[in-house]
Amino acid sequence: MTLARPILAGLATVALMAGSAMAQDKPGPAAAVSEEDGKWSAEDGTPTFKVDDQGSVDWYTFSGFRRYHSECHVCHGPDGQGSSYAPALVKSVENIDYYTFTDIVVNGKKEGNLVMPSFGTNKNIMCYLDDIYIYLRAVGSGEVPRGRPAKHADKPASFTEAENACMG
Ligand code: HEC
Repeated sequence: MTLARPILAGLATVALMAGSAMAQDKPGPAAAVSEEDGKWSAEDGTPTFKVDDQGSVDWYTFSGFRRYHSECHVCHGPDGQGSSYAPALVKSVENIDYYTFTDIVVNGKKEGNLVMPSFGTNKNIMCYLDDIYIYLRAVGSGEVPRGRPAKHADKPASFTEAENACMG
């Protein structure tokens, strides 16, 4: 009798540890693993989002939120949720990879009556394509709620430099 309690407590601890180990073993393809100047990458090197301990999103996620809503929202609906006309991009980024995504935005896509325009010469989109992708990944993962991110990291100096170089 006296032994039962510690044994059960021990088992519960083991079960808890197994649970958290499993969660860490399966971080998902969008999990951020490395950072350079405030821009995060996933295991496969593709750009991704990061939410810090305070619930603040990285700058690119915030920038992507703004760019998405000025350039894509009109057809793809608010927060990448889709419309009667164009698909939900928060789902697309889980089904098509980064390279396919950028290829479609650069060159467009046409299926029947549905036309995704090509934006390859539109600097307001090309200069922020990673930002938009990162934002869609963030909302698609469920880690970042829909709507304007409440808190975000400061704009990195490297972002401003790249932006100026790209916009010319
Ligand atoms: C004028 C309306 C319109 C605008 C603006 C627009 N799209 Fe689209 N997009 C579409 C339509 C319609 C499709 C579906 C095309 C098809 O299936 O052939 C589509 C398809 C896509 C796809 C492929 C999705 C999939 O699951 O296959 C991607 C990626 C995409 N759009 C990204 C974007 C991004 C990023 C922006 C903003 C920079 C944007 N689109 C702006 C209409 C638009």
